[in-house]
Amino acid sequence: MIFITGGAGFIGSNFVLDWLAQHDEPVINFDKLTYAGNINNLASLTHDPRHIFVQGDIGDTAQVAALLEQYKPRAIVHFAAESHVDRSILGPAAFVQTNVNGTFGLLEATRAFWSNLPESEKAAFRFLHVSTDEVYGTLGPNDAPFTETTQYAPNSPYSASKAASDHLVRSYHHTYGLPTLTTNCSNNYGPYHFPEKLIPLMITNARAGKPLPIYGDGQQVRDWLYVSDHCAAIRRTLEAGVPGEVYNIGGWNEKANLEVVHALCDILDKLDPKSSGSYRDQIAYVTDRPGHDRRYAIDARKIERELGWKPAETFETGIRKTVQWYLDHQDWVSNVQSGDYLKWVEQNYSQRQTPAGVQQ
Ligand code: NAD
Ligand code: TYD
Repeated sequence: MIFITGGAGFIGSNFVLDWLAQHDEPVINFDKLTYAGNINNLASLTHDPRHIFVQGDIGDTAQVAALLEQYKPRAIVHFAAESHVDRSILGPAAFVQTNVNGTFGLLEATRAFWSNLPESEKAAFRFLHVSTDEVYGTLGPNDAPFTETTQYAPNSPYSASKAASDHLVRSYHHTYGLPTLTTNCSNNYGPYHFPEKLIPLMITNARAGKPLPIYGDGQQVRDWLYVSDHCAAIRRTLEAGVPGEVYNIGGWNEKANLEVVHALCDILDKLDPKSSGSYRDQIAYVTDRPGHDRRYAIDARKIERELGWKPAETFETGIRKTVQWYLDHQDWVSNVQSGDYLKWVEQNYSQRQTPAGVQQ
């Protein structure tokens, strides 16, 4: 069986659902169920004996160690993290706690378990660390995309904490020989994405008749990847990745934020038209994010060349599926927009003024 951390979050729950749709190998899903974890994402697995859910903190080395001894997984796929840049700006402590100390605790429990395995199982074991392209910092408009050897230059508390976790994972391979794999992926989107992030926030705000808050001039560029393509890349890396190696994962879909929001509005105008006007009329420019990275872009040629992975979705097919999913899952949206979510929206957006002189 495999042991997943953070399997009730956005990417983790997509991974668990995809995994069990394709394999019979059981999954231990270890998740703290923070505001971002949602066990309802896995409701279809409630009676599935291949899915074992355990609530807990990756920093609790004793609990993780006991679970590893009990279930003896052949691999760990580590998704659990605090993942939202804006939250890391308003409250960085949780990011250091989970992403750095938590990953350290998990690595220690893993090292203790792995060291005692018979030699053949030791060699076959994998610790796959799921990381982000944000560790590489920001690019100028004409810079080449990030490769696996681009120097780390994290700019937010989120990316700095992920960079620290990447370094710890690297050190456990070099020092102890733990068979690690690290993947650095670009921005994901798709089903079960918590509506604090750009794409689901814009879809849910648009439908609720609320403003669509564009930070700064909206010309920041992200490289978007449909979540099931990321899950496929992780499965392939787990299967064929070389221990100690790093693989960049991206969709070759660089888009400015404003372009993404326009695309969402245009799809909504077709699939769920307003009684008058366009969803674009709700766009509102607001104060920029401090330290906002201007551009991310991934050079994904290594994973394509060495592991034969390529994204199946284009931005156009993936974004349309995503909007349709949100239209079809109103109950999911209502459930996650609970008290805590509303508090966050108030905290993040009430301070952001509409800059004078900026066209609405
Ligand atoms: P998410 O915030 O949606 O989910 C995180 C999950 O981790 C939640 O289920 C949460 O309950 C759990 N968790 C948090 N702290 C924990 C702890 N201390 N112990 C156990 N569980 C804990 O995040 P996501 O978007 O699904 O991202 C998953 C991973 O992928 C993260 O490591 C993130 O850095 C990385 N990543 C995300 C993106 C993206 O676009 N979302 C892109 C590249 C990499
Ligand atoms: P986000 O989804 O938070 O991902 P990340 O910061 O990890 O890339 O944001 C994506 C882009 O969208 C980023 O440039 C910030 C911008 N953004 C807005 O313009 N408005 C918003 O309300 C949010 C949440 C993000």
